Amino acid sequence: MTTPAIETILTEDRRYPPPEDFAAQANAQPDIYERSFDEFWETEGRERLSWFEPFTQLYEWKPPYAKWFLGGKTNVTYNCVDRHVERGLGDKVAYHWEGEPEGERRDVTFAELQRETTRLANALKTLGVGKGTAVGIYMGMVPEAAIAMLACARIGAPHTVVFGGFSADSLSDRLHDMECEVLITQDEAWRRGTTVPLKRTADEALREAPSVRSVVVLRRTGNDVPMTEGRDFWWHELVEGEPDDPASCPCEPMDSEDLLYLLYTSGTTAKPKGIAHTTAGYLCGVATTHHYIFDVEPDSVYWCAADIGWVTGHSYIVYGPLCNGTTGVLYEGTPDFPDKDRWWEIVERYEVDILYTAPTAIRAHMKWGHEHAEKHDLSSLRLLGSVGEPINPEAWEWYRRHIGGGRTPVVDTWWQTETGMIMISPLPGITTTKPGSATKPFPGVDAAVYDESGNEVGPGGGGYLVLRRPWPAMLRGIYKDDERYAETYWSKYGDVYFAGDGARIDEDGDFWLLGRVDDVMNVSGHRISTIEVESALVDHPRVAEAAVCGRNDAQTGQAIVAYVTLKGGEDGSVEMLEELRNHVARKIGPIAKPANIVFTPELPKTRSGKIMRRLLRDVAEQRTLGDTTTLADPGVVEEIRDRAAAEATEE
Ligand code: PRX
Repeated sequence: MTTPAIETILTEDRRYPPPEDFAAQANAQPDIYERSFDEFWETEGRERLSWFEPFTQLYEWKPPYAKWFLGGKTNVTYNCVDRHVERGLGDKVAYHWEGEPEGERRDVTFAELQRETTRLANALKTLGVGKGTAVGIYMGMVPEAAIAMLACARIGAPHTVVFGGFSADSLSDRLHDMECEVLITQDEAWRRGTTVPLKRTADEALREAPSVRSVVVLRRTGNDVPMTEGRDFWWHELVEGEPDDPASCPCEPMDSEDLLYLLYTSGTTAKPKGIAHTTAGYLCGVATTHHYIFDVEPDSVYWCAADIGWVTGHSYIVYGPLCNGTTGVLYEGTPDFPDKDRWWEIVERYEVDILYTAPTAIRAHMKWGHEHAEKHDLSSLRLLGSVGEPINPEAWEWYRRHIGGGRTPVVDTWWQTETGMIMISPLPGITTTKPGSATKPFPGVDAAVYDESGNEVGPGGGGYLVLRRPWPAMLRGIYKDDERYAETYWSKYGDVYFAGDGARIDEDGDFWLLGRVDDVMNVSGHRISTIEVESALVDHPRVAEAAVCGRNDAQTGQAIVAYVTLKGGEDGSVEMLEELRNHVARKIGPIAKPANIVFTPELPKTRSGKIMRRLLRDVAEQRTLGDTTTLADPGVVEEIRDRAAAEATEE
């Protein structure tokens, strides 16, 4: 018998069939799974998007490159904004915006979005921006960030949005790689009651990004920032006098395959990859998934609590929801400012019915305690979603129970910057959900699990997640690096996309994501995924969050080291340590029992909230730390190192 690529040790028996009333009204009904690949995407493409010229061919697949909706001409902003206004929905709210400083609120209707987008697009034209001119966007969570993206798409200028928490170096790398000619930013952003100096950071970045000729600066906090004469323009001054009538700046007819944006993703290695997304396939993919997976209704108030700077923000705050004419919530600040109930206050105020967030946020709320949610009426919520990392079953349960009132379906959605759209997810009116499982590939998506040699792994087995057919929103390559594109995603199994994630399929055909394959541990010849051991730890009532990794061990190859955060900021003890080791042994077996446990108030995370196990491995093996530039808070890993060292001396 060959050793499986990844073994399965965690079993989860809880099941939640969709509530009957939800199922009866759901956008996706069971026959959706009977639709053929071609028919599904053909129909969605024709009916969900408005075309200036219809497409003549559904797709073309010349591995590893795909094209979709060939021959078609359309415009993303026309689909997201103008057509809704033309259909009489101009007064519908596109975004309920909530600023971080209390009391600062603004509703932006579709008509306003159209006017503001047109004005900015006209202003950008005066700076020489036209079809094909690359534009960088470096902003916080303000409506103008979406307006900037839409203004670019209106005139056919591809954008790259750089998350507002990134440093000057990260910003200049991206601006330089894409050869951006214009940067749109703001004076400062609000964050947890203090300001983030976006313009000053941009100034520093621009020294290394000579392609940028002009900078547009939105006034947000109003504090003084340096402006360079001839290069920098205040947004409000630049748009003054520009017409806001959509006819003054018609939406540019774009080819289906014209570049919409690049989004840089760093992964674990040095140079970020410019992931390329094009026009029609991307928009169709994000709008279709948004409609069926989130079950949006015409009167929904949908809140995706991600940042616009990540792909989740692009696909499910801006392009997908706006294409569907959905009212969304846009919140500028952090979940704990000024208090830990800020999110729940927002849900109550706007009567949010759909909430989409990440496991890291859910675990933070778990750590703070459910009493914060209890202060508010969350009965408007109808559906909850999760994305970004595998969700521990206990976090899933907590989310459903304390936020969803034990009533709402929870959709755990698997996808990547590269896939552009959600690929594996329950459909909330159809799927019986299981805490911790992303369940089924979306209709028109062909996902499978392969072993090392490329054979499909049957039910129960673990292996590597692959996608066997192209999909409309798939990346069209890595900008200016064909070789890296082929090598990263297409070299393991030939013409099959390798996602870099481990997964298993259970007896019902449901997918369980097991994290990045680089994180898989090898203990006495057993290949164990980090997520299952972490979930066993989080299953303990006092544990809020856990990360595990393997460290070299003379006897077992690798030994498991766990880093654990307890609820309510509690400190660990020797008794607790033993209790947790035994808990894991009971829950999933002695093989997975951590050799040691380090208690820590925080775990090292990327700026998008993913746990960085690679650094924990460095700590466990007492190596010098690898690249820490993607860490959200570099202090955390230092603290963990001190704690681990202290424990080693105590032993
Ligand atoms: O490892 C998977 C994890 O996040 C990776 C993609 O990250 P990024 O490109 O930043 O996009 C995040 C938002 C789509 C994947 O390769 N991941 C994302 N969603 C899930 C997940 N892992 C398990 N379950 C998920 N639902």
